[in-house]
Amino acid sequence: MHGKEILDTLLREHQGLRQHLEEWEAALRQATGSSYGQCQQAVSVLRDLCQVFEHELRHHIREEETVFYPAVEYRLPRLRALLGELRHEHDVFRQAFEEFRRELLHFNATGELRRLLPLGRELVGLLRQHVDREERELHPIVLHEFGEEDWRELRRLYVDSEVA
Ligand SMILES: [Fe+2]
Ligand SMILES: [Fe+2]
Repeated sequence: MHGKEILDTLLREHQGLRQHLEEWEAALRQATGSSYGQCQQAVSVLRDLCQVFEHELRHHIREEETVFYPAVEYRLPRLRALLGELRHEHDVFRQAFEEFRRELLHFNATGELRRLLPLGRELVGLLRQHVDREERELHPIVLHEFGEEDWRELRRLYVDSEVA
């Protein structure tokens, strides 16, 4: 795989994440103001989505944190602050997902939604903002500044890591 294809892979994964975000939003809408039965159904969709999402997101974030971000940071140190903020956003998702999972368990046990829906909406907003930001503020600079050697190095890092 050529180094540039790694960026294409990240972009393709973003598209997959966006698609799941739409399904997630539809389930949140269905759970809002509906009967208990409908709400329960919507929450079960959210539960399945949460699993798929976490799996895909974990893989994606790992590729970024162990391969892509370090390669960019080494070659373009002026982007260090931006990468620090993006890493922090990853930490925020991890925490928000954990909290969301706790609220799902609480709903299972008691039938109370508590903070499940606002938290779900918050997660959608955070994730969408993050992938948009990477595509707007990070990817174009990398595409512009990386030369053949940098792409080769990125590819080498990718192959050496076990995230491929
Ligand atoms: Fe990211
Ligand atoms: Fe990303």
